[in-house]
Amino acid sequence: MPEKRYTVRFEPDGVSIDVYREAENLLRVAMVAGVHVNASCGGAGTCGKCKVKILEGEYDAKPSSKLTDAEWDQGYRLACQTQILGDLVVEVPVESRYEKGVLAREAGPEHVLAAARLGDEYHLVTPEPAVQKYYLALPPPTDDQNVSDLGRLGQVLKREHDIPRVSTDYHVMAGLATALRDGDWKVTASVLHTHTSRRLTRVEPGDTRARTFALAIDIGTTTIHGALLDANTGEEVARAADYNSQVSMGEDVITRIIAALKPGGLEGLQKRAVKTTNGVLAELLTKAEVDAGEITHAVLAGNTTMTQLYLGLNPKYIREAPYVPTANFFPPVRLAELGIKVPSHVLGYVMPCVASYVGGDITAGVLACGIHLDSRLTLFMDVGTNGEIVIGNQDWMVSASASAGPAFEGGGVKFGMRATYGAIEQVRINRENLEPMILTIGQVQPKGVCGSGMIDCLAEFAEAGIVGQNGKFNQDLASRTDRIREGETGWEYVLCWKDQTQLDQDLVVTEPDIDNLIRTKGSIYAACSVLLKSVGLQFTDIERIILAGGFGRYIDVEKAMAIGLLPEVDPSTVSYGGNTSLTGCKLAALYRDKIEEVEGLATMITNIELSASNIYMDEYVAALFLPHTRMEEFPRQAERLAAALAG
Ligand code: FES
Repeated sequence: MPEKRYTVRFEPDGVSIDVYREAENLLRVAMVAGVHVNASCGGAGTCGKCKVKILEGEYDAKPSSKLTDAEWDQGYRLACQTQILGDLVVEVPVESRYEKGVLAREAGPEHVLAAARLGDEYHLVTPEPAVQKYYLALPPPTDDQNVSDLGRLGQVLKREHDIPRVSTDYHVMAGLATALRDGDWKVTASVLHTHTSRRLTRVEPGDTRARTFALAIDIGTTTIHGALLDANTGEEVARAADYNSQVSMGEDVITRIIAALKPGGLEGLQKRAVKTTNGVLAELLTKAEVDAGEITHAVLAGNTTMTQLYLGLNPKYIREAPYVPTANFFPPVRLAELGIKVPSHVLGYVMPCVASYVGGDITAGVLACGIHLDSRLTLFMDVGTNGEIVIGNQDWMVSASASAGPAFEGGGVKFGMRATYGAIEQVRINRENLEPMILTIGQVQPKGVCGSGMIDCLAEFAEAGIVGQNGKFNQDLASRTDRIREGETGWEYVLCWKDQTQLDQDLVVTEPDIDNLIRTKGSIYAACSVLLKSVGLQFTDIERIILAGGFGRYIDVEKAMAIGLLPEVDPSTVSYGGNTSLTGCKLAALYRDKIEEVEGLATMITNIELSASNIYMDEYVAALFLPHTRMEEFPRQAERLAAALAG
């Protein structure tokens, strides 16, 4: 848990909350504290509804035309435009808070502000990368010491660095004579260390050890992320990302496999991903002022389909029962041969896959989080277009991929969108008048709802009685608020009126949206349930949960439990791992023993094919409820719902 910085007290209700980040936004803090402040524009500063009076403390607030001079002088500020710089006492005026300011729920989940991170905190012991540079001063040949150039280099490597047998790439041999003589017999030799062999990958004139860089690449279905690392210090010298240009050939892995099977499809997809990677690489090199020739090696990870597409391997059989990938382990690949703009000496290590739908991004994630080294029973979850799940510890691991559907990434939801600017990421509903309080990413006017916003909606709708546990709207409430109404596709709730959005229509959440979200969360929970049952355990045995991927970033874990997406455990045991796939690549790029480790853990994971499970369907159907038909698995939520009903 990060260190507490400030405390904010909201009056007149006397609700206090600790703040963990410098310059945290006041509206965001009010939301976490469960203090209802009107917020109709997502925090863009345009609706003027989030007016609060700051009674005491240090803060920084932007001026606003929504406040009169007199109000400003009295201490009124827009909460969404205020940053907290010290302990604060804030009064929420009547017009900003409706009749009852504090929602009837438990104290806010501080961990949302704390944003605990794992994985990025790898230990910066001196790197020992798979490709290591050695500076060698060779004795020049003489009449009686005239062994070959390669033989001479091999003798010095053995004598000075205890590297007895080195195989050699042909292209190294091709330039060897010139490199040795250009360097006046003083050269830098790059050697690839695997657990079974040593291979000479490059010989350069002079001493180039000071400039040694490694590349880590996460090949996501939606985004390609790259990090450039100083292989001497372990420091990340640049990071860049871009949308995978394969998106134009299909949003998810299944449509990409279908596209790959068309004439020229596989080649087109491979080239697109490489083109995006080259853009990311160029940005990394420019940012860090590094030359591509200074990169010694790379580590790449992607899900199984992305890996195969990237390597130009036909993905057809990934999609057909019995769902067999071409390979789970890959030999080092010369990146230039794939079209990546690096010199030919740069070899890429591709993270191993487990099965057709549990790929190198997951093994890299397990490596990054150290699940395979920890005795605690861990649930690792990466929710994207698929929900990939690993459960286990240092002794065993099982995995599954729930075909969750892209609902949490915006697919199949009327105003669904990815977590980018203008996406509603947090929602609270006032229990008295059913008015929403919304916050958008970037605090601009909303244009859609992202995954975390949808989770909030579902949880808040259920707790406010707007929808029943079956996900159907309570139509009787239409007489209490005009936000609940019958729209084109059935009943809906107006989250944001047209004039406060970037759209030309009201932003609504519909009943079909809710059905879709329930199906998605149901399939993920059911997958966890099947995995646990397969090893004779239950949810109460889980000791920690790690959420990975972009989706986990803004999730309010209490809400995710409230809807039955996550099992109801102690929220403090839930962490956000960030882009664990990239972190795993970084680790393997800096420490050669991590490559051995990831190969070991990939063989340790037993994948369970859900389509072949005879209990999956029953589990799935049981999970199509808010939070679940087995309410005994969600005692806290059961209590909350009962209290809401009674109140
Ligand atoms: Fe602050 Fe609209 S002005 S939420």
